Amino acid sequence: MSGEILLLSGPNLDLLGERSPEIYGASSLAEHVARFRELASAAGYSVRDLQSNFEGDLIEAVHGARGVDVAIVLNAGALTHSSWALHDALATFEGVKVEVHLSNPAAREPFRHVSTLAGVVNGSIAGFGALSYELALEAVRRLLESS
Ligand code: DQA
Repeated sequence: MSGEILLLSGPNLDLLGERSPEIYGASSLAEHVARFRELASAAGYSVRDLQSNFEGDLIEAVHGARGVDVAIVLNAGALTHSSWALHDALATFEGVKVEVHLSNPAAREPFRHVSTLAGVVNGSIAGFGALSYELALEAVRRLLESS
């Protein structure tokens, strides 16, 4: 298979490695992205990545992926729990969509138990730390192969 995957990261994920390492681990976002890119490349996919602390940037990136990218892998950070605008943007993307989280939001504070994105993605992978990104890639790969 081939094609480009958009790997999107939302607010505060630029601080990975420094921010609550007991919850999110010691790796930086750059390290997660590099590993994801390496594995994607071995599977025949290129990766475009963007991190932004601004909801509008993420929405525009989703718009830009329409008709271009084969999949979006998205860790929207706390926007996961509040952004209906990101939900609506993702609903317009026709490719594979996987929500990813390093931690397991369902096992944390109640406000993290809701995902506004859950209804417009193929599925969510959460709670496996760095492995969440690898599992998300595997999900993308399998879904694209079977489509
Ligand atoms: C997160 C979980 C969110 O609840 C939180 O706001 C984040 C990171 C995760 O990867 O575990 O910023 O998406």
